[in-house]
Amino acid sequence: MKRVFSILSVSTIAMTAFAHSQVGKVIRISTDNTDLVLKVGDNNRLYQTYLGPKLLDENDLANLDWAQHAGSDGSVSKRGWEAYSTSGNEDFFEPALGVTHSDGNATTYLYYVDSSEMPVDGGIQTDIRLKDDKYPLEVTLHYVAYQKENVIKTWSDIRHEEKFPVTLSAYASAMLYFNEPSYYLTEFSSDWAKEAQMSSQQLQFGKKVIDTKLGSRAAMHTHPFFEIGLDGPVKEQSGEVLMGTLGWTGNFRFTFEVDNVGNLRVIPGINPYASTYELKSNEVFTTPEFIFTLSYDGAGQGSRNLHDWARKYSLKDGEGSRMTLLNNWENTAFDFNQDILAELMKEAKHLGVDMFLLDDGWFGNKYPRKDDHAGLGDWEVTHDKLPGGIAALVKSANDADVKFGIWIEPEMVNPKSELYEKHPDWVIEQPNRDTYYYRNQLVLDMSNPKVQDYVYGVVDNILTENPDVAYFKWDCNSPITNIYSPYNKDKQGQMYIDHVRGIYNVLRRIKDKYPDVPMMLCSGGGARCDYEALKYFTEFWCSDNTDPVERIYIQWGFSQFFPAKAMAAHVTSWNKNTSVKFRTDVASMCKLGFDIGLQDLNADELAYCQQAIANWKRLQPAIMDGVQYRLVSPYDGNHAAVEYVGESKNMGVLFAYNLSPRFQEKLQRVKLKGLDQTRKYMVKEINLMPEAGSTFAQDGKIFSGDYLMKIGLDVFSNTHNTSMVVELTAQ
Ligand code: DGJ
Repeated sequence: MKRVFSILSVSTIAMTAFAHSQVGKVIRISTDNTDLVLKVGDNNRLYQTYLGPKLLDENDLANLDWAQHAGSDGSVSKRGWEAYSTSGNEDFFEPALGVTHSDGNATTYLYYVDSSEMPVDGGIQTDIRLKDDKYPLEVTLHYVAYQKENVIKTWSDIRHEEKFPVTLSAYASAMLYFNEPSYYLTEFSSDWAKEAQMSSQQLQFGKKVIDTKLGSRAAMHTHPFFEIGLDGPVKEQSGEVLMGTLGWTGNFRFTFEVDNVGNLRVIPGINPYASTYELKSNEVFTTPEFIFTLSYDGAGQGSRNLHDWARKYSLKDGEGSRMTLLNNWENTAFDFNQDILAELMKEAKHLGVDMFLLDDGWFGNKYPRKDDHAGLGDWEVTHDKLPGGIAALVKSANDADVKFGIWIEPEMVNPKSELYEKHPDWVIEQPNRDTYYYRNQLVLDMSNPKVQDYVYGVVDNILTENPDVAYFKWDCNSPITNIYSPYNKDKQGQMYIDHVRGIYNVLRRIKDKYPDVPMMLCSGGGARCDYEALKYFTEFWCSDNTDPVERIYIQWGFSQFFPAKAMAAHVTSWNKNTSVKFRTDVASMCKLGFDIGLQDLNADELAYCQQAIANWKRLQPAIMDGVQYRLVSPYDGNHAAVEYVGESKNMGVLFAYNLSPRFQEKLQRVKLKGLDQTRKYMVKEINLMPEAGSTFAQDGKIFSGDYLMKIGLDVFSNTHNTSMVVELTAQ
């Protein structure tokens, strides 16, 4: 029987000492389409009895009771699926929780105590308390089920009242189980300029671990999300898929273990690497949130669930609008002054974007930031470069009628800086070994409250002195190297965790004081992309790689978990072999920006960009706030197509790309999705170069939604690196 598991009838195992045993109690955590069912076994421990499509008849929950699961040899399995399995029990596979108690005992048994439910924004929160019967240690499991979006968010609290600290060697956020004939994992590997690369493999007996040990810039080599195909490899538009992501801006670990009888357990959490955590009496260890959805219609529907959930309940200003911008990093790098910036602000206005964003290189006096070797940490404007300070830049922006945003990297320091000279003990660095530098810089010790104040002050000072600064790009270019916290000297096992908590303390303070200031999360490209950080950031920078061909893959990868609104994409001069149109069309699928000098655009290209920006602004209800359908995957061939439909189905836009098609390759029509089949839509090619006539065969025609979804449009060609954008307008 699918997904139904035995709970050992344990007359032989000592029953818990808890007086009010609730044997048989069922806890149902439901969204509109999915049920997660937990049950108190007759040993008073808590088990997962079901996770899958919503059960229609409440009475069936009772049938999940005690069903025996045959092992491969026909014997009855002697264990159930413990909801939060612990070290030292009869399970023998990877636990969620590993505790060594203060007397050295390495076993923990958790028994059900009680549970409660309460409504929260968008869903129902269920809290379940579990307790050891021999040690005063308890775990509370939290689940928030977002009904409409079919998303469940789960995390755990660990606390004890032992006299001395206990040691935590594993502290997962949650544990989920599946019983299917096969499991296929889609993972997202990454590196600088190679973010969110998707690959798939079958999970066989044993463990597959995806983790990072980078500390900060933690998602540089792999991102904190995954997909599992539960009835074959993950497909876009059909099949059952688990999609999960961890909200943690530090080391994370996903363990996928297929056991001796072919069950899969999924264990998401902080990576305990170099982090055996000494938990003091009454201290609460709260794990990060694990967010997941089960889709029964492929990854596409799973993504739409997550996009809706993120915009409504997670992403900072998820339902607000976004500003288009002109950034100067790819254009000037460190080479600018006040006059050049004032000119660029005028260019921003001329281009038609909302804001000018000043990047790296504006600070440092004793050690001016003229390249990436010096100045980081000294957040004072370089006087001889920008004599009027930020105030003059804000004024120039006002004069040009654009907003002004600014780049910071406040968690980091160059050793060549006044900050490092004054506070060498604020830096994560080994006291007795040679120092290893990544991009010539070091990471500040964010576990130190004084450092937190300093980092908070970077934003607070800028905004106090210049309340008109409208935006921050917050960068993070180095992993933690030389792992040693001078602040937490005798608690090195907590360094990685306390560092991330320190970052959140700062971000919380910033958000409390400046709730309306949008911020971009950047990490040498897209090495920070998790939903905890995104509570404080309106968007993240997906990659320094803005070659449109590569970007199609990168954006395809990130879009699995994040709405377009959270993904910043800029038009730059990367891959000049491609047209400005192609580059802009690709960036238009996300939060659109530019990072190019107008000198690099001829008159037609400039006119094209101005028009494309206006089109993007008009289409925001579809691209930023609508429903996304990934129609043709670049991973499947030489074309790609993505469609966005406004929520009321009155507008839509289709982006179609030709990558490297073969000679006279057969071209498939693209069938649209998500339209109202009874309504008529005008289809019109937009984002055309001036004077270029449309080559779109159906340009200007009117079709029913039914036709468009069943027959489709001829939007592909065999010309390499070209694109077509088609606007759909309901009549
Ligand atoms: C890395 C970022 O990804 C770039 O966009 C740019 O801001 C540089 N850092 C500046 O040093």
